[in-house]
Amino acid sequence: MDVRRLTDRLGGLAFGGDYNPEQWGEEVWQEDDELMRRARVNLATLGVFSWALVEPEEGRYDFGWLDAHVDRLHANGIAVDLATPTASPPPWFTLAHPDALPVRPDGVRLTHGSRDTYCLAAPAYRRAARRIASALAERYGDHPALALWHVHNEYVTLCWCDHTATAFRVWLRARHGTLDALNEAWGTRFWSQRYTSWEQILPPRATQWHGNPGQALDFRRFWSDETLAAYREQRDAIRAHSDRPVTTNLMLPGYQNLDLWAFGREVDLVAVDHYPSAPGLDAAADTAFGADRARSLGGGAPWLLMEQGTNTVYAGDRTLGKEPGQILRHSLGHIARGSEGALFFQWRQSRAGAEQWHSALVPHAGPDSRVFREAAATGEAVARLGELAGSAVRADVAVLHDSDAWWALDVDGLPSAALDYHSALRRAHRALWDAGVTVDFAHPEHDLGRYRLLVAPALFLLSDAGGENLRRYVEGGGTLLVQHAAGCVDERLHARLGGYPAAPLRAALGVRVEEHRPLGQDEELVLSDGSRARAWSESLRIEGAEAVAAYSHGMLAGAPALTRHAYGAGHGWYLSTELDAAGSAALIARLLAEAGAAPEPPGLPPGVETVTRHAPDGRRWRLHLNHTTETVPLPEPGHDLLTGGVTHELPAGGCAVLRLLP
Ligand code: GAL
Repeated sequence: MDVRRLTDRLGGLAFGGDYNPEQWGEEVWQEDDELMRRARVNLATLGVFSWALVEPEEGRYDFGWLDAHVDRLHANGIAVDLATPTASPPPWFTLAHPDALPVRPDGVRLTHGSRDTYCLAAPAYRRAARRIASALAERYGDHPALALWHVHNEYVTLCWCDHTATAFRVWLRARHGTLDALNEAWGTRFWSQRYTSWEQILPPRATQWHGNPGQALDFRRFWSDETLAAYREQRDAIRAHSDRPVTTNLMLPGYQNLDLWAFGREVDLVAVDHYPSAPGLDAAADTAFGADRARSLGGGAPWLLMEQGTNTVYAGDRTLGKEPGQILRHSLGHIARGSEGALFFQWRQSRAGAEQWHSALVPHAGPDSRVFREAAATGEAVARLGELAGSAVRADVAVLHDSDAWWALDVDGLPSAALDYHSALRRAHRALWDAGVTVDFAHPEHDLGRYRLLVAPALFLLSDAGGENLRRYVEGGGTLLVQHAAGCVDERLHARLGGYPAAPLRAALGVRVEEHRPLGQDEELVLSDGSRARAWSESLRIEGAEAVAAYSHGMLAGAPALTRHAYGAGHGWYLSTELDAAGSAALIARLLAEAGAAPEPPGLPPGVETVTRHAPDGRRWRLHLNHTTETVPLPEPGHDLLTGGVTHELPAGGCAVLRLLP
């Protein structure tokens, strides 16, 4: 099963989004038909929150209304992405199975009235989810309108109930084998936490003081595996009746309840939701961050932007209208980075209910509105890009990302609150995005040989295999930048002894960190090369590296802050503090030059984003997005799929998709 099947079925890239017609009546459906044609919608996600209508009481199905919508869409040439409605169990379910309601760490059991009120580990919930997935697949599995299966909606919730405890213990037995091994892994000799039977072990519920870090990390791993198992059950129930590709919409970019690398291996096509939470250039950078992660999760295969908004959702404390042109630019921002289309939540803005103020393609104001006009123009633009289907993006640079490392920085008792995985990952990506290079994300244990430059932020936890892989990468000729607080603990969160990071990586970096010296919130350091640093500093010893910049005051005055080590055929850089944006930009420019990785094409001003998509047969397209307020001449004009003519320059806020000559 591959993505070609989706774009082949659609006859091009996907445009459309979540369609919840059950909120409306006949007249509106007729208008929907007409407006969808105008907006060039070719894919609609049906049924995401329809459990209460499809199964009004346990085991009794009512498919009539859904049949009518599937058939209507099909008659209008619109393919269906059919969702299983399991993210929103109906009230009858939770009343019949109160033990399947989720429990918070503090013991409070939630009740229905919102969505996502279920415990994924509760047997009754899992049975009901499999049953409805299977019933839907049996009914619609070979419907000609069906292009894609959309399992659940954003697996993000956690639970700490007794069912979870039972499943956690099963998982722990499989991971550790014996109680002795678990006790050893979790360091339970300290604080008198030794377990003498499996039944004593609980999920990390609210407790008095710091929780046990090993327990916290294992719980995140367990929950991710449990969620993946729930996904697989539905996927397999569907596959028993249908040969269409199956996916789930993953939540990006700041949510990390799941090991998304593992999900990337289990879906037929990676699909993500992306809602930038900032305006302007930050939103464009955020879009690139999400899109690069989505592409990387599937190993570079084409993927799909399943949801975005026509507004920014909650920029701080309010929703924010997207600026004129941003609906198109964000859509193309995802397509540039490999998405096979641009979908939205949702088609028509709800009149009532929990998300009535959430934006949509058709706003409350109706089709005679800026938002609908921009949405329709975006649909028209996407319709012109059909030849991009199946092409891919290439990157010479990667940022390392590991869920274990993320979760390792979520435990209690760390040396500084400034050790924040997500913001470190964002900063690393942003510095490269600002430099105009295309970036993949990669796992420390992946095959990394194809990258010229690797940037490793916040690798607090690094496995032995990851450390050895990075050492080999440098030895083989790669350039690696490792950022502060790296390699401090192993997979069990046990501290690395004898200096950080652990031995194999240390050899490639030629340094040994002896002491962490976290900085205060307002403290700033100036390094010997003039760059400014914050948040963190370290006392490190040179073991073969050269000092590129030193600390210039305080206890560390004169000590190395940034080092470079020639190792094998490559270079291992170590940065022991957090540089500000200007300092990062200067360092990244130097590393890109050393590694021979340049933006393509060079010479475009900051705020103009360029990415190239490559077809397997050698055809290429260059997507340019001008996020600035100035007109920008293009270095290589070309045939623009958006206009059908030759484009020489980009107006302020404008975009171009140029077909490159072979
Ligand atoms: C997504 C979710 C949608 C809708 C949207 C609003 O995360 O999947 O159902 O709630 O957010 O932004």
